[in-house]
Amino acid sequence: MKKIGILTSGGDAPGMNAAIRAVTRTAIYHNIEVKGILNGFEGLIENKWMNLKFSDVGNIIQRGGTLLGSARSDEFRTPEGREKAYKTIQDNGIEALVVIGGDGSFAGAHQLFKEFKLPFVGIPGTIDNDLYGTEYTIGFDTALNTVVEAVDKIRDTASSHHRVFFVEVMGRHSGFIALDAGIAVGAEESLIPERTTDLRSLIHYLKRIRGKKRSSIILVSEGDDEGGAIEIMNKVKAELGDFDIRSSVLGHMQRGGNPSALDRILASRMGVKAIESLLLGEKDIMLGVQNNSIVSIPIKEAISKKETIDEDKLKVMKILSHF
Ligand code: F6P
Repeated sequence: MKKIGILTSGGDAPGMNAAIRAVTRTAIYHNIEVKGILNGFEGLIENKWMNLKFSDVGNIIQRGGTLLGSARSDEFRTPEGREKAYKTIQDNGIEALVVIGGDGSFAGAHQLFKEFKLPFVGIPGTIDNDLYGTEYTIGFDTALNTVVEAVDKIRDTASSHHRVFFVEVMGRHSGFIALDAGIAVGAEESLIPERTTDLRSLIHYLKRIRGKKRSSIILVSEGDDEGGAIEIMNKVKAELGDFDIRSSVLGHMQRGGNPSALDRILASRMGVKAIESLLLGEKDIMLGVQNNSIVSIPIKEAISKKETIDEDKLKVMKILSHF
């Protein structure tokens, strides 16, 4: 193998740059050239890329976002779009791809593998931590710490004013951020898409703890079946008119910022492993971390199965917020 391409796709996540650096430097270590494809699969369709040399990936390990840019490409979902993408790959002599992103990005790369036999390795990069086959995705730890820092601040004002706060966190289809952050901030409840939200029992709980707890923090995953934090707050307010209730939507601040040490280390380990896996002839896989080892998961499995919420963590949350 003489030349590979690397791209970041889907929602950006802190630690993607650390992964780009690790892939590039490992490739160079093995005398492999690296083309950095710009803006995800769109860069492949439009033949937009930059050569990545050793020093091009210097001073980025600590930076959030992605040096290469990211996008969600509709054109790549069409056979014509993928034809164009493959032409860029051929014209530039790219022999394999490293794709950093989430399951949508891997589904795209898998399609390219099926149609053109282009080997690829997926590195899980998403703050949502919702990929099957890996205990952690790159960016999750940083996002979690961002949420914890923000909610700790909200708790200060909530307890000064004896308020109930509904705080919305990211997770369109998954509650991993809400559940882990809920444990870490000592939230009264985390509402997540994986479980049906029971507003009646939440309202009873809030009535029961009124005057006994100085403040209440309810974390809401943006994908919750009862709506986002503002919607749920309004539903609760309609029943608890005399409660002092506020909401806060943390939004995209959760996706930015310098990656945590954990995310940098995970990204570095996966970046090295991605090149080693390609050199060993692996073709259509995602990397994952299991029991602190970096492992390969067949891509079909990674994109067709869903990571389930940890029942143990749900229990911890329930016991510790019990009143
Ligand atoms: O990165 C994943 C994610 O944060 C989801 O939780 C969220 O719904 C989505 O991205 C929003 O992304 P965008 O605003 O880029 O469409």
